Amino acid sequence: MVRRRSRLRAVSGRTARPPWLAAACAAAIVLGAGLSSAEAPSSVPADILAAFARPAQRPSATKDDARQVALGRALFFDTRLSGDGSLSCASCHDPQLGFADGVPLGSGIAGTRLPRHTPALWNLAWGRTFFWDGRATSLESQSTGPIENPAEMGAKIEDVVARLEADAEMRAAFAAAFPERPVVDAVNLTRALAAFERTLVSPETRFDRFVAGERDALTTDELAGFRLFIGKAGCVNCHSGWRFTDEAFHDIGLPGDDRGRGATLGLPAADHAFKTPSLRELAWTAPYMHDGSLATLEEVVAHYEQGIVERPTLSADLPRPLTLTEEERRQLVAFLGTLSSEDPPRPASLPPHVEQGPGGAGAVSVSTVRQAGKRFAPDHVRIRAGEGLTVINDDTRTHNVRVDDPRLTFSSGAQEPGDRVILSFDEPGLFLVTCGIHPEMRLTVEVAPQNGK
Ligand code: HEC
Ligand code: HEC
Repeated sequence: MVRRRSRLRAVSGRTARPPWLAAACAAAIVLGAGLSSAEAPSSVPADILAAFARPAQRPSATKDDARQVALGRALFFDTRLSGDGSLSCASCHDPQLGFADGVPLGSGIAGTRLPRHTPALWNLAWGRTFFWDGRATSLESQSTGPIENPAEMGAKIEDVVARLEADAEMRAAFAAAFPERPVVDAVNLTRALAAFERTLVSPETRFDRFVAGERDALTTDELAGFRLFIGKAGCVNCHSGWRFTDEAFHDIGLPGDDRGRGATLGLPAADHAFKTPSLRELAWTAPYMHDGSLATLEEVVAHYEQGIVERPTLSADLPRPLTLTEEERRQLVAFLGTLSSEDPPRPASLPPHVEQGPGGAGAVSVSTVRQAGKRFAPDHVRIRAGEGLTVINDDTRTHNVRVDDPRLTFSSGAQEPGDRVILSFDEPGLFLVTCGIHPEMRLTVEVAPQNGK
């Protein structure tokens, strides 16, 4: 792999529409959840509303099985998953509290104080990375984390498996859920937990009814708050789409020494950056932020106005400066309220959608890819082995071009606006290129053999 960089003078290819809208609209259309303009509440343009439309299906690489989900649910509430039998996943991820725990920092076995706030578990079927710093890349790989973490459940996975295997009912449940490999082991345990977690879809709220065309679903103040959210207050720069997250990592200027994504990537440019949380069901999941430091939504809004710690790593997507009137603050908080259920939320059920692998059809033969608006354009290219593929950062943000593949590992380091990175692949095959800071950016590279071989 060769890599060269040079500074670019001209920045081009900016779109007239806000980038969050372009990306979110594409997603909504793919999922078949667009709105016709006739249904749209008159005061908000239909294309903006469509960017917030709920999908009809859940993404899923494997169609989930009712028996796996049932087993995963049972395991989620089972205290045999912890070292001393005192905790289950639900001890910290309480369904009555939106699968969070209601305190700034929770405690693990023997009362150990945890370094980060327990997040809610809504809509993780759409997640690209897991934990506040994104260190896990699948729900399957995530769940051994808390089980084996000495501060959390403090167990050895072999001991957990042995305890479950000693139980005849558990053996039968594992065999029914995984008929092709009917054993109680860590692989099936994590698959079952992940299958259950993928079904935790946040229910429809008043905001969804508004998006679906019910004009009076929002009050005047709430609608004004929505306009601030997508306009002056710039919240949508990061909290985009129906889940209200771009799945990316940002430093929003909270005080503290936790390096977050920077430590995970070994990339100082991503220090203090944490994954943008979804804003669904916030009414049930206070307090907020990776350190649980903000108790109310009013405090959150005050943070974006005057709490930001000046640092070189601050996200380019933060609206600066932000000054709101007292009325605007109230409206913004009122709008956030429309994303929460009125009673303790119960997971909605959405059928899984089986993802198609990348076919050859969408690939284009080019030697340059651009990154404006947090998107690789084009996002599916064909090149020949040994040829260079130039990735130009014509965006306003720092990126980190990566290939994490057994055949090839590559990281560009901090790719600042204007920097270009040249990738070259020696082996033919299909490769995925992502951004470590914005993992929703996905570039599929089809590498053909050299000289048409
Ligand atoms: C002792 C409390 C505790 C227990 C028990 C616990 N968790 Fe967590 N969980 C946390 C904390 C704290 C985090 C955030 C840690 C971080 O980001 O570094 C977290 C993060 C997660 C995430 C990532 C969510 C996201 O948005 O990225 C998932 C998924 C998760 N836990 C599932 C589970 C499962 C499954 C179990 C049981 C096997 C479990 N947890 C047990 C406290 C707990
Ligand atoms: C630059 C990207 C960005 C912008 C702009 C932004 N946020 Fe955030 N938001 C984040 C990130 C990242 C976090 C988590 C930060 C952390 O914990 O360190 C967060 C956390 C939150 C939380 C806490 C959620 C939870 O479950 O803990 C709320 C509420 C929130 N933001 C609301 C807003 C509002 C309202 C605005 C507009 C005034 C806004 N955000 C603007 C990126 C952003």
